[in-house]
Amino acid sequence: MLETPESRDKDVNICFESYPQSWYPICLSKSLTHSKVLVQKAFGRDWILFRDKSSNVGMLSRHCSHMGTDLVSAKIVNGALQCPLHHWLYDTQGQCNYSQGNRFERGFSSYLHTRERYGVIFAFWGKEPLFELPNFNNLAKPLTSNPSILVCDMPLIMMGINGYDTVHFDTIHHRPLQESPKIYSDEKYHLAINYNAIVKPVSFYDKLILIADKKTLTIQLDCWGGNYFLVNNVGTDFYAMAAGLPVDSKKTHIYIIGAVPESQSFLKRIILDKIKTYFSGLLAVDFLKPDMKVLNNIAPDFNHPFIRNDAVLNSFINYWKHLPALRGN
Ligand code: FES
Ligand SMILES: [Fe+2]
Repeated sequence: MLETPESRDKDVNICFESYPQSWYPICLSKSLTHSKVLVQKAFGRDWILFRDKSSNVGMLSRHCSHMGTDLVSAKIVNGALQCPLHHWLYDTQGQCNYSQGNRFERGFSSYLHTRERYGVIFAFWGKEPLFELPNFNNLAKPLTSNPSILVCDMPLIMMGINGYDTVHFDTIHHRPLQESPKIYSDEKYHLAINYNAIVKPVSFYDKLILIADKKTLTIQLDCWGGNYFLVNNVGTDFYAMAAGLPVDSKKTHIYIIGAVPESQSFLKRIILDKIKTYFSGLLAVDFLKPDMKVLNNIAPDFNHPFIRNDAVLNSFINYWKHLPALRGN
């Protein structure tokens, strides 16, 4: 079918106003206790989070499905969320039993499926998870750093565009590519980019790499669902995860975690692994900070020939457009 200006505009709206059905980081595990509800903004709307007695996390619409009472002042009673107005009790799947006169009815609220990993609570944007929360490749037992959160005024899609913007590898990260990157996909929700970059003595991390006598670095970046990225600095012990949450169509929170493999020797496990894990988190954040400076308030035009003619960028944009997505508010 011929591409018309109208269909191009429709494509562009898809980039900003819909979010792929994927796993999104919502908040830090430690910020959600058993005794209090938490309000979080995600996908342009407000959500209520709470824990049941088994520590499962519920993520429900902020307003009660009965008469719309704000659940920010809800109580947690026996692990269920109690609406302050007529005391309906919701479980973590948004289900509730209630009595109406002498009848028993069943109510429900919109909810998202949740998972908890690496000290972060994730939720699947969609009715049912279309794929499981991905693990680090080649790491049976990853040791992970404390999560960090970077806040950026940019649409979520820019996170992926940045990962596939080969020009900025040199201008921002001072790592020019040796040759064109390899791009491939194992399945619908996955897109990988693999490239060899020349290391220059500019960033702290790259100076360390040069001290270790590595003049080039192979990077493997696996994207899942358009927003969840796993990074492997091939040949080193340093891995990272970066996952974006669209707070709304213009603001994105990026959750970052560094990871290292667990050592075989007991002595290394109790001393060296802790230091390496800590540094993996620092290095991952350090690598992304220069990106955040220039991506703030970015206003890309996806119809511009410079973007439309960049084959690598377009591989990401096309992948994104074919992901099943839902509109936010
Ligand atoms: S408004 Fe929540 S139970 Fe009635
Ligand atoms: Fe970058």
